[in-house]
Amino acid sequence: MLAIKDLSKRFGGLLALRDVSLEAAPGDITAVIGPNGAGKSTLMNVISGFIAPNSGTITVGGEPITGMKPHEVCRKGLARTFQNLQMFTDMSVVEAVVTGRTRHRRASLVANLLMTPRVWREEEEAADQSRALLETMGIGSAYWERRAGDLPYGLQRRVEIARALATEPTYLLLDEPAAGLNDDESTALGETLCKLAERGIGVVLIEHDIELVMKVSRHIHVMDAGTVIASGSPDAVRANPDVVKAYLGEENAS
Ligand SMILES: Nc1ncnc2c1ncn2[C@@H]1O[C@H](COP(=O)(O)OP(=O)(O)OP(=O)(O)O)[C@@H](O)[C@H]1O
Ligand SMILES: [Mg+2]
Repeated sequence: MLAIKDLSKRFGGLLALRDVSLEAAPGDITAVIGPNGAGKSTLMNVISGFIAPNSGTITVGGEPITGMKPHEVCRKGLARTFQNLQMFTDMSVVEAVVTGRTRHRRASLVANLLMTPRVWREEEEAADQSRALLETMGIGSAYWERRAGDLPYGLQRRVEIARALATEPTYLLLDEPAAGLNDDESTALGETLCKLAERGIGVVLIEHDIELVMKVSRHIHVMDAGTVIASGSPDAVRANPDVVKAYLGEENAS
């Protein structure tokens, strides 16, 4: 279990997260939705170690990870994606994915410099694994040696998820992965996320595409103004008057 308990984060006078508690299980897709400014990205930044919380705890399989640095959080089995591929655009698609795998490299610096057989073998393994992940993400061999930054936007988003998967995470945190995708791409993404969950990965999905969320999630948490206002199955959340109110405003809710 990924368990978040009473998490709070203050930015000056703004309480961006107020006593947020939620859980996500391996093999499930858990969604976090809510209007703009609800605190969803802040929550992801805190979980992944990019922002320290003011209070509260985060545990993975019972082990506390609160306050750890991003690379330490990653080593505990939590991977996240970023909005874009910025740092990796000049690499080939395969190389961009291989960068995700570095936490599994064991060969020493000297061995790397001398390019020993072991290093060579590890590089080959890393490239093989990256190609397999790209296949999983629906990116065929025609794209593998192309410059990552030259791929269409929708495919770059998939490369970014493959890069996160290369860390071999137990949990995959996605912040608006469907942003900028067309309907077909969004449907395909949903199918891919279900496939990852079937393999045992716990997917935490922050998303504005409600149709996608309703289709793939087992559990949905709705945030508004820094707090979780509703949690439950897609059907329960859809029928919750507080949720309708948060999205449409008071006057439209009744
Ligand atoms: N680094 C920061 N410094 C100050 N305020 C911040 C910072 N990051 C976020 N905020 C504020 O915290 C609140 C929550 O922002 P956050 O980005 O988490 O919302 P969100 O739910 O991800 O919204 P969106 O759906 O638009 O992405 C907003 O009012 C935002 O302006
Ligand atoms: Mg956000």
